[in-house]
Formats: sequence, structure tokens, C-alpha cells
Amino acid sequence: MDGIGQDLQEELEYHLIPINKREKEFSREERIHAMTPFLLRWYRKQRRILPWRENPIPYYVWISEIMLQQTRVEAVKPYFERFTKTLPEIGALAEVEEEVLLKLWEGLGYYNRARNLKKAAQIVMEQFNGRLPDNYEKLLTLPGIGSYTAGAIASIAYGIPVPAVDGNVLRVFSRLMADNRDILNQSVKKELEMFLKENMPKKEAAAFNQALMEIGAMVCLPNGEPKCMECPLSPFCQAHADKTELQYPVKKAKKKRRVEERTVLLICRNGTEFVLEKREEKGLLAGLYEFPNFLGPFSEEEIKQYLKGHGLALKKIVPLGFAKHIFSHVEWHMAGYEVEVKEIKDKKTDLLFVELEKLRTEYPIPNAFAAYKKHLGLLEGK
Ligand code: ADE
Ligand code: SF4
Repeated sequence: MDGIGQDLQEELEYHLIPINKREKEFSREERIHAMTPFLLRWYRKQRRILPWRENPIPYYVWISEIMLQQTRVEAVKPYFERFTKTLPEIGALAEVEEEVLLKLWEGLGYYNRARNLKKAAQIVMEQFNGRLPDNYEKLLTLPGIGSYTAGAIASIAYGIPVPAVDGNVLRVFSRLMADNRDILNQSVKKELEMFLKENMPKKEAAAFNQALMEIGAMVCLPNGEPKCMECPLSPFCQAHADKTELQYPVKKAKKKRRVEERTVLLICRNGTEFVLEKREEKGLLAGLYEFPNFLGPFSEEEIKQYLKGHGLALKKIVPLGFAKHIFSHVEWHMAGYEVEVKEIKDKKTDLLFVELEKLRTEYPIPNAFAAYKKHLGLLEGK
């Protein structure tokens, strides 16, 4: 039954006594073996129907899992559809132009993840006959694939009994076990991976791993109250028994982010073309396009100087207000201006002017500029 072996009935009945009413403490192993059938049954009934879940070919699992590291399932769906339509298989990904790739990724953030997808696809084409390896260790050697992603691909696409431990799974287990260790500590993750590898149902790896993630995403929620009343694991959950769900996972105070004041210019010529600059190939938002922006608040005089240096003269300036974007280590506090310009006689500007429509379809511009993209009608209103 559910791949967990004999003695089940007796054990289940014992575990169905709420754990704070039982006579003896029981081990982590007993807890997970008892809860697994309930977890799997819940997953079969309650899981969300997702394109990459209903058709878990290795490529789909891979792409979806990398996307899901950036944002929630609902937000990933349209990205996934567009990505797999444009690049239907690994060979296409291996050959995609960088800018097409980044455009497909626009808005998801962490653009190196997209670049690593392409690098890994190239290796798969060259070394693995165009097929993602059905082997956990080999998957781990690919760029951008760590223990979580390797585990997800191996288990979901190939049914290999290895765990896939992400932040969701770590949070669920810290509550289940009332474990107050820091879940950002890599040794805590390693240890949970080893524990799960030994104790997961060997024939149900795909359902088991996804069920744990699904509990984390839908029931045992990260911010605010977990929905313990709906949780199939509540009879097995130590934090629930202790009524201390909200104390887990224990988080260490984070370092404060650096704040940068920035001035952003939407420089417009003829009402239809705007200036874009390409960012450097290294560092934050590497290789993406952006509206010209500068550290610190700029005065009108400084804006004029900048334009003049690029063969342009100011016609009109309109303040667009303030916007904020939060990266992992830095916050941008931006003041934006729409700036109408004309070229100075006998000079040719070296700036790149791009038609609005191309700005929308061809140039990857990061979400840090969402407020200003929206101003130009490049985003649907939020
Ligand atoms: N979050 C990340 N991967 C997931 C998956 N496969 N199912 C549910 N939530 C997830
Ligand atoms: Fe999370 Fe509550 Fe379920 Fe425990 S009972 S795993 S705290 S949702």
C-alpha cells in the first residue's frame, strides 16, 4: 500500500492519536512513515493540474522547476507556455540567440538562470545525445542544476527515488519536527536530503516530492498562518500539536540591503523612439537593456549636460515620480523623467534609439523598470 510496507494499519491507528496525547515520543522515521499514505492520498485528490505536471517530460520538468525558483506557479504558467512554444525542445534551447532567450525570461529575474539553461542544453546536446540524463549525479554536473533541481528532474521525470528539497519542503519539515535549526544553513538541507532519501517511498518518488512541495505551496504557507485545518499532516505535526506553527521556520535576522538613489531617464525623440542602453556583461542584470539611469538625484542641469555629451538638446522634461525595486542585496529608489530631445545640428548622437514596438517585443528590459515600462504602455496595468 502506497509503497511503505507492512505493519501499516497498526501504526496508522497509533499515529492518528494526536501526538501530544500519545504516551511515548516517536522518531522522525516513524513520523514520516506514518504520514506518507495521508500525504499521497491528499496529493492525488488536491493537486493542481499543471502543464508540466500532466506531461512531465524531462525538459518540461527542468524548465518549470527553474522558473518556479523565481516565482509562484500562477505567475510561471504564461512564461512556461511561451518558452516551450518558442523553444519546444532542448536542441532549440541550445541554439537560441541570447536576446531571444532573455526576452523570454524578461520579468522573471535572475537572468543567469536563463543563461545557464542554454549552457546546460548545449552540454546535453554534445554529451548526452540531446536527452537530459536519467541519473542524479550526472544531472548535478550541469550548469544551474543543484541538488533540488537534479532531484526534481530525476524523481518527477524518471521516477528515481531521490528527494527534491526546496524552501517549501524545508519549511514543512521544520514545522513537522518542530526543528528550530536555521533552514538557510546548507547542512540542515543536506541532512534532510539524506533523511528523505532513506525514508521516502521508493516507488512513489514523483508524487511524494511534489506532494511535499504542494503542501508547502498551498497549505503550510510561508507568510502568515498555515492552514492546519486542511492539512493531511496535522496529526503528525509537532508544531501543530504544540500550537507553535508560527514560530517555524526559525529565521535569522537578515543583513540590511544597501539603498541606491537613482535617476532614470526616458529619453524620447519624435514621440516614438526611446533610448536604451545595454548593461555590462557582468554583475547585476548583466547584458540586459535599460533606460539610461544614474546614481544619485540628477538636476535639470546635469540632465542637460548628459544629453549634450551625446549630441542631444533638451526640449521638454516631465517628472514621472518615484519607484522602488528590491533586489536581493540592494534597493533602487528611482526618480524618473520623461525627456524630449532633439539632435544638435551637425552632430549625430551615439545613443541607441529604439521604436516603442521593438522595445516591447525585442529588447529584454528588467522588471526593475516596471513603473517606467508601464508609463510607456509596455505592460498591462497592474
Ligand atoms: N514549487 C516548485 N516546484 C514545484 C512543484 N513541482 N510542484 C509544486 N510546487 C512547486
Ligand atoms: Fe504545516 Fe500546519 Fe500541516 Fe503542520 S499541520 S505541516 S504546521 S499546515
